[in-house]
Amino acid sequence: MELKLVLDVQKIRKDFPILNRKVNGKPLIYFDNAATSQTPQQVIDVIVDYYSNYNANIHRGVHALSQEATDAYEQARLKTQAHFNAKHAHEIIFTSGTTHGINLVANGFSSLLKEGDEVLVSALEHHSNIVPWQMLCERTGATLKVIPMNDNGELVLSGFDVLLNENTKLVFVNHISNALGTINPIEYIIEKAHEYGAAVLVDGAQSCPHLKPDVQALDVDFYVCSAHKVCGPTGIGMLYGKQDWLNKLPPYQGGGEMIAEVTFEKTTYADLPHKFEAGTPNVCGGIAFGAAIDYMNAIGFANIAQYEQELLEYATNQLQQIEGVKIYGTAKNKTSVISFNVSDIHPYDIGTILDKMGIAVRTGHHCAQPIMDFYQIPGTIRTSFMFYNTKEEIDVFIASLKKAIMMLS
Ligand code: ALA
Repeated sequence: MELKLVLDVQKIRKDFPILNRKVNGKPLIYFDNAATSQTPQQVIDVIVDYYSNYNANIHRGVHALSQEATDAYEQARLKTQAHFNAKHAHEIIFTSGTTHGINLVANGFSSLLKEGDEVLVSALEHHSNIVPWQMLCERTGATLKVIPMNDNGELVLSGFDVLLNENTKLVFVNHISNALGTINPIEYIIEKAHEYGAAVLVDGAQSCPHLKPDVQALDVDFYVCSAHKVCGPTGIGMLYGKQDWLNKLPPYQGGGEMIAEVTFEKTTYADLPHKFEAGTPNVCGGIAFGAAIDYMNAIGFANIAQYEQELLEYATNQLQQIEGVKIYGTAKNKTSVISFNVSDIHPYDIGTILDKMGIAVRTGHHCAQPIMDFYQIPGTIRTSFMFYNTKEEIDVFIASLKKAIMMLS
């Protein structure tokens, strides 16, 4: 099968210094992008420039460095607002990542839920979009219900419809499953949930590397993601929340910069977004996140999606020809993630041998144990591609996998 290349991938690969390194004496083939993406020189340069030239605390200094850092950080917020098409810049809260964003919202709903209320979570969630809601339910007495999935790794929408009722207050779903790559029909889920007055939080950790969400068009209440999945650094992410919801939720952490006025008798809180950004933020991370968004947009999400679909189809076809391979997650709409097992070989054993051949994949339950329980397996081998991966790398991976299988059979 010939790939119709829509991207100049060899040129793009030159932006990523890490792709030149060797692992165990072999050229690195990095297929663990769903865990974290790699960082282009353009973003690394922004980080070096920040610490070399204008490292300072923000929103609180009269001096030049502080002004420059504040301007760059707030510029990054504007870029993020534009990227996600949020109505207001103050609807973008910088967080330490997706998990932080989800916990911020879950904590906020503690005072808004009561016994008898119901929250729906999908069967396809990462632990970070399950555990905070379980903790919320324990605190409030609300009940957690699960939107079911089918064998293809798709959500069963008729099951969702049945669960929705006037007690449903919140719905949590990922845009794309990290373990299977399924693209969930969040448009339908948001629309139906709103018919019952329920708010919807979408975990965008796995979607943001592959597509460009428009939060206003989606009419989503909360959308969260992490910069390190989109060619940015770790330790920074974003929570988008509709202004009305963010005003309704109490602050998550108390501290400097999130206040309007403090006395020992009473504290009043700052306006959005500062109400949710207590303490010194990850200034450099926010600025680098903005640079990563610029980088991804320069490549273009339509090009990224088309190219990655080609990689997905190519690798899926190759894998299906190997005896004993079973792919988990065969949804019609899926992104460039392939979870699979080979006969009864333990995924960890294959992952370890692939690593010796310079190939990075993830093995295990992928922080999605309920999905593994559904398939009654301990885990899978997961390959996840980004726009800088190539067909040639897939060829090497397939040949290496065949060798690994021979060694383990
Ligand atoms: N959530 C990340 C993954 O799927 C870490 O690998």
